[in-house]
Amino acid sequence: MKIAITGAAGYFGRKIIERLEENNECELIVGISRRNFKHPFKKLQYHQMDVRDKKLKDLFQKYDVDIVVHLAFVLNPTHDREEMRDINVNGAKNVLNACKEIGIEKIIMTSSTMVYGAWPDNPKFLTEESPLRGHPTYYYNQDKVKVEKLCKQFMEENPEIKMAILRPCLVLGPTVDHFYARLLNWPVLPLVDGENPDMQFLHEDDLARAYELFIMNDIEGIFNIVGEGTMKWKEVIETAGKRAVKLPGKLLYPLLSLSWHLRLMQFPPQILDFIKYRWVASGEKAKKAGFKPEYSTKETLLDFLENNKIVRRKS
Ligand SMILES: NC(=O)c1ccc[n+]([C@@H]2O[C@H](COP(=O)([O-])OP(=O)(O)OC[C@H]3O[C@@H](n4cnc5c(N)ncnc54)[C@H](OP(=O)(O)O)[C@@H]3O)[C@@H](O)[C@H]2O)c1
Repeated sequence: MKIAITGAAGYFGRKIIERLEENNECELIVGISRRNFKHPFKKLQYHQMDVRDKKLKDLFQKYDVDIVVHLAFVLNPTHDREEMRDINVNGAKNVLNACKEIGIEKIIMTSSTMVYGAWPDNPKFLTEESPLRGHPTYYYNQDKVKVEKLCKQFMEENPEIKMAILRPCLVLGPTVDHFYARLLNWPVLPLVDGENPDMQFLHEDDLARAYELFIMNDIEGIFNIVGEGTMKWKEVIETAGKRAVKLPGKLLYPLLSLSWHLRLMQFPPQILDFIKYRWVASGEKAKKAGFKPEYSTKETLLDFLENNKIVRRKS
């Protein structure tokens, strides 16, 4: 099996490739992202290429790729909204077009449980049938929802191409370095308007196991990929050895907005919604398809904290 992975040098890419290196059914991995990536992987043919490059199709063709795993996306927000949208949406379009032109067998698209959005009236567990309400202003949710729409249209127009859309929740683990994880470096963290929503994490090793399952088996459709159980936001903060403080949203949103616009902080104000309202998803459908996470939400958090420089309060 020959597998192409966009965003190969990123967090998910490295974990998935590590896993595929050990899988005998995987013969070759064609990795694509823009950075210079020195790696230890024997099966990986790495190419520095933009996901929007029209030559993507030629690359897939050159290696006679069977499966494409699309990961490339702007995760850490920048101030260039147009560039982010172009990479996220037009990048996905280019991948889908390339797949169609070469008649690929299967595509695994990466979405996120963030497509549901964080809303005060979200149910206890969002399912794959829940509406994709995204976020009114946050680039990440908006672009993920757009990409899912593109994928659904693609599935209707190309029924001969198998597709799975995976919606992982927030992933943590020893090697994580995304900006959400860095939030836990703050010595004091807010309970926005006193809210204390449920949170959910997936371990990076479970993430890699889930992708392996969907790569190796023809399971089609949309699946939430989440860790077992939930934790209250206050418990997350205190487990990380930080202080949870009730703070009013009417103070926090303008403060974070100002520091984001002045480029003093890398956290846009919209992320406050994701610690104020619940956006926890059900993993039942993926479980039925054969994915059983080995780490719970709490075990994932503990493994992340133990392996990162985030200090835990000794108690
Ligand atoms: N991390 C999470 O907790 C989480 C949760 C749910 C869903 N997801 C989704 O999972 C996917 C992977 O996330 P991640 O955590 O691995 O993010 P990441 O570490 O930031 O990796 C993103 C990858 O995309 C590549 N990329 C970005 N722009 C590109 C472009 N124009 N052309 C080619 N490659 C490009 C990056 O490499 P270069 O910058 O070198 O090009 C990098 O390899 C994303 O779709 C993300 O939205 C992540």
